[in-house]
Amino acid sequence: MSLQYDHQHFNDILEAAHAAASAFLGSLSTRPAGHTLQSLSHDVLREDGIGAQGALTAFREKYEDLLAASPGPRYLGFVTGGSTPAAVAGDWLVSAYDQNVGSDGDSIATTVERETLGLLRALFGLPESFEGAFVTGATQANFVALATARQWAAERQGIDVAEQGLWNVPPIPVLGGSPHASIVKALAMLGMGRQVMEYIPSLPGRMAVDLQALDRQLAALGGMPAIVVASAGDVNTGDFDDIAAMADLCKTYGAWLHVDGAFGLFAACDPARAHLLHGLDLADSITTDGHKWLNVPYDSGFVFTRHLALHQQVFKVTAAYLGDTSDLSHRTPEDSRRFRALPAWMTLMAYGKNGYRELVTRCCTLAQQLGQGIEQSSHFELLAPVRLNIVCFALRGANAEQRNQFLARLKEDGRVLLTPTLFAGKPAIRAAFSNWSTSEEDIPVILEALEECIVTR
Ligand SMILES: Cc1ncc(COP(=O)(O)O)c(C=O)c1O
Repeated sequence: MSLQYDHQHFNDILEAAHAAASAFLGSLSTRPAGHTLQSLSHDVLREDGIGAQGALTAFREKYEDLLAASPGPRYLGFVTGGSTPAAVAGDWLVSAYDQNVGSDGDSIATTVERETLGLLRALFGLPESFEGAFVTGATQANFVALATARQWAAERQGIDVAEQGLWNVPPIPVLGGSPHASIVKALAMLGMGRQVMEYIPSLPGRMAVDLQALDRQLAALGGMPAIVVASAGDVNTGDFDDIAAMADLCKTYGAWLHVDGAFGLFAACDPARAHLLHGLDLADSITTDGHKWLNVPYDSGFVFTRHLALHQQVFKVTAAYLGDTSDLSHRTPEDSRRFRALPAWMTLMAYGKNGYRELVTRCCTLAQQLGQGIEQSSHFELLAPVRLNIVCFALRGANAEQRNQFLARLKEDGRVLLTPTLFAGKPAIRAAFSNWSTSEEDIPVILEALEECIVTR
């Protein structure tokens, strides 16, 4: 089938894709939340292709049944948002429009991206002094923020890392209580090294950093420029570091404060929980995700800094044929980028502040309801108070292998998907609520599935 043929039948192809999307979305509440990986035959690259409709049919026949209901209401693994109707519509159009938002000039798309960053600032209550960029997710946002922090720290020692490299820069201390694994990954990618991460003890029974221990550690650095990483929503329990107190310490010791709020930044949407982010405006850089609680499709994340000049020193790209430094390509690892802002713009315009307040509050209430159910069960043990949208619990008496077997049975059952972790040395289980379509009706289904998947030892 030729490309010319598909060109003539473009609308039919889009209709077929629409039908496939509708069928998938319609199956989300009954489709298994997750699948165990299966080995399938390899695909073969043909001499002559089968055309778009043929490819779509082949995909559906071979793979569609094995897609997870990860955008559905009971996929509670990792921190997995779904996609709101407005965001899905926006994302489809991103492909059709196919705009490159690297540089200003020939499309309004870059303006929309800047406007969307403004809408996000308003959602999170950030002052205009924070300039942002769209990236692929929180890992990349952490990478961009830490690269900017590294530029700052080295500059204080008289070195421009972006120009001269790291060769003469002494190790830059990075301190945090419960940094997400992606912070450490970013340190590896930045050539700062995973081992530079200094883990400061947490408060007893918490994932929040012990401020006195942090104070002592910063004092011991004797004025060396350091980077402090605060967690606004730790991935295991949803606990928050005291950002305002950490900002005070950073001011005292002249350190850079980075806040990783991949999902926790959305506490700003809920007046009852916004206090968890007190001091956020004092951060030097901030990470958050779109594909988590904003409920836009993968992949979407945002980084904000109060230091655009430093940020651009790192990511600037110069060539005679490229634009000037006001272009967005000077803020991100990529030069060319997709019009990732559109799904975010659509969903923010569609549902507004109140829509996100309702969504965030509902997810937190559902997490509390699941937590209560766990506490009432004789088979499970709640390991941490439910502070936000994450429930961290254990299967009583289970070692890691038994916990894994339980999670595998749960996945096979398909009603709910949960992921493992370790909390206070115990093999634990996490349930994270961040999907717009999860409702109170899902809680009894989840609790029933949990009880029914226990095999009495
Ligand atoms: C606090 C935190 N930071 C960073 C990340 C990494 O996010 P992503 O997978 O979008 O890169 C996560 C993912 O769960 C997270 O919870």
